[in-house]
Amino acid sequence: MQLQVPDHVPQHLVFDFDIYTARELEHEPHRTMVELLRSRQVPPIFFTPRNGGHWIIAGAVEGLEMLRDIERFSSEPQYNANSRKPWTLPNQSDPPEHTEYRRIINPAFVPRAVAVMEDGLRALSVEMIEELLPRGGCSFVEDVAKKFPVNVFLRMAGAPQGDREMLVDLTEQVVRHPDRAVREAASHAMGAYVMKAYETRRGQEGDDLLSMVLQGRFQGRALNDEELLGMGLLLFLGGLDTVASTLGFVMLFLARHPGHYRQLVDDPALIPGAVEELIRVHSVASVQRGVREDTEYLGITMRRNDKMFFMTQLYGLDERKIDDPLRVDFTRPVSPHLGFGAGPHRCIGSHLARTEVRIFLEEWTRRIPRMTLADDAAVRTRGGHVWSPVEVPLRW
Ligand code: HEM
Repeated sequence: MQLQVPDHVPQHLVFDFDIYTARELEHEPHRTMVELLRSRQVPPIFFTPRNGGHWIIAGAVEGLEMLRDIERFSSEPQYNANSRKPWTLPNQSDPPEHTEYRRIINPAFVPRAVAVMEDGLRALSVEMIEELLPRGGCSFVEDVAKKFPVNVFLRMAGAPQGDREMLVDLTEQVVRHPDRAVREAASHAMGAYVMKAYETRRGQEGDDLLSMVLQGRFQGRALNDEELLGMGLLLFLGGLDTVASTLGFVMLFLARHPGHYRQLVDDPALIPGAVEELIRVHSVASVQRGVREDTEYLGITMRRNDKMFFMTQLYGLDERKIDDPLRVDFTRPVSPHLGFGAGPHRCIGSHLARTEVRIFLEEWTRRIPRMTLADDAAVRTRGGHVWSPVEVPLRW
């Protein structure tokens, strides 16, 4: 297949990289990408002709500058040539509209609201771990990662637990299926689910996440259908996949590094710092922006509507930001990362996500003093918008 590169893109910045199918993302994607950058096989900003053609920012400095520069790099879909409906909110909007959309759901995610959830999160972790314990091992992604955070989110959204598998499958397709038609069909199916869920809440004073959106006001009016769809869809996508992927990478690392695991078993006070350090080396999400007007960015010509794709996964692994980035040290004073993004769109669920991982690790290490990978050869990971382990077989 002949792939087109637009005229304004210089040849030395072209690297053929499909975010959905790149072999580089199938095993240890973080390490592999760091090594590619280090060996200068790819520059910190490059253009791939795949998936309609877009820029990829792999460098920390370059990515952070882009996220902060909302004058030039917009989140609105109209500036992103590759964007297709259904759109999501509040992430695909710019301030000042963005501020209003975000305000609607913010109360559910502030530290005080998450603190109220802590006992429930702990009880759920304990219940799941106790059930697994006698088995002496598990397939972590299937048995835990796709259940624990998803269960938490479905409770917040007031959605039936029986819909879990269907929703997890749809999310999987939306964020990492290589075929665009499948991704779009899954988005529409999920959108239809969300709209139906609103209908059952209309006229009631519910306090779940979707009722909150339904009761929300934008510029003094209720949200229209497109806005309701966008807000609901993003909440489901954010809530169903990201924490699961993060937990998967965290457990994979700990199973491969018994010395690090031992530290957490022996001294649980290390766990909050360890969560930050483990997110630094295993950030999972990429973010998108579009170029508002033709511009020069770090000496590179970019055209209006060019799509930018920033791998926040690599921010905390950039040698310009941190010494010896692949070394995991739970006592680092600061673990710089952009796993939750930066600027006005910084992840609204970050406090919840951190709390879930911390509580889960506290309860897991308390009950399982030693664990290993049951089969290293079976471990696989996948790319897409959110990198994720597919299989993490554990034994204890
Ligand atoms: C480890 C888990 C998570 C990671 C790595 C993550 C990552 C991110 C990132 C990188 C962004 C920025 C997007 C951008 O700049 O365009 C973001 C935004 C967002 N996240 Fe998360 N997220 C996580 C968990 C969650 C959870 C649990 C929820 C909700 C239940 C959530 C809901 C959202 C929402 C609504 C936004 C949009 C915020 C805005 O545009 O103002 N996230 N997330």
